[in-house]
Amino acid sequence: MLTVSGLYKRFGSVEVLRNVGLDIRKGTTTIIIGPSGSGKSTLLNCINLLELPNEGSITLNGMSMTFSADKKSGPRAVQSFRRQTGMVFQGNHLFPHLTALENVMLGPVVVKRLNKPDAKRHAAALLDKVGLGELTERYPHQLSGGQQQRVGIARAMSMEPTMLLFDEPTSALDPELVLEVLEVMKALTRDGMTLVIVTHELDFASRVADQVIFMDEGRIVESGSPGEVMVRTRHERIQAFVRRLSPHARMDNTESSLK
Ligand SMILES: Nc1ncnc2c1ncn2[C@@H]1O[C@H](COP(=O)(O)OP(=O)(O)OP(=O)(O)O)[C@@H](O)[C@H]1O
Ligand SMILES: [Mg+2]
Repeated sequence: MLTVSGLYKRFGSVEVLRNVGLDIRKGTTTIIIGPSGSGKSTLLNCINLLELPNEGSITLNGMSMTFSADKKSGPRAVQSFRRQTGMVFQGNHLFPHLTALENVMLGPVVVKRLNKPDAKRHAAALLDKVGLGELTERYPHQLSGGQQQRVGIARAMSMEPTMLLFDEPTSALDPELVLEVLEVMKALTRDGMTLVIVTHELDFASRVADQVIFMDEGRIVESGSPGEVMVRTRHERIQAFVRRLSPHARMDNTESSLK
């Protein structure tokens, strides 16, 4: 469904993505992990064309785009490509003056020119799906962080993308709110949605991922099943990363820092 190959992204003289290639099959969940600054967000942004790659190619649902220094992609092509993916960010960027329902209706009404009654029905069904069927009339400030994030997921789905991209969707949440957002993502995987998720929730990753990708310094160091990448890897960088993030390691760190 998605093939990325030979992707390079530079910001000035800094090379942030270096020859990145990956394959994602329809209906699967891919989790991207890696240290801060390794290029995870940039990769998602390139798949969504929020950032234009300098080199390489991306094929999504049979539609191909090739990037190079002397070739500029037309805004039309970028738009129709971008519409196939929905993006959920760390902090939801909901409109504060619109209700949950209106936030989810906005894209279909404004961009797709869907009539309001249909958009409303569709938005209500999506909010129901993320467990907010009772709270559709609330404004963002009347919702918890986890609930706001779930509105964000419903909003991303409102444009009917073929793939959803999540950039650390739970890292701005209090620990007790993380689970409800993870549950919604898990339900989406059961529905057969194609998901690409950047997260530090390794436990979640090991339970839902079909594919785990470890990035470091702009490269994909390893990709494979959760067991292959997170348990049986021979890369020391990955072993150290996983140790640092696993709950036991965190507990040990806390204990030793208390001593
Ligand atoms: N718009 C930009 N302009 C210049 N440099 C950028 C830009 N966006 C990202 N970078 C740089 O690219 C590198 C990769 O950043 P990116 O945000 O993709 O990392 P990340 O893996 O998502 O990190 P984190 O886990 O902290 O979110 C970093 O060194 C960052 O400073
Ligand atoms: Mg990031």
